[in-house]
Amino acid sequence: MKKYRCLVCNYIYDPAQGDPASGVAPGTLFESLPEDWTCPDCGASKADFEPMDDLRLAPSGHRSGELFD
Ligand SMILES: [Fe+2]
Repeated sequence: MKKYRCLVCNYIYDPAQGDPASGVAPGTLFESLPEDWTCPDCGASKADFEPMDDLRLAPSGHRSGELFD
């Protein structure tokens, strides 16, 4: 399940944990959050969140340490 990061305060919404303080059960996808859900830390709206692309950290295709000249 994809995590989302708050652009305002860097809070991470983890679908596996949900947001119990706001009545969001664990396992709730970000996309399934109510439109009026806001960041628990700073109150930013869903529009202020971006998906975390963890695949970007481990690109396939070439090895680290390989140099191009
Ligand atoms: Fe936030």
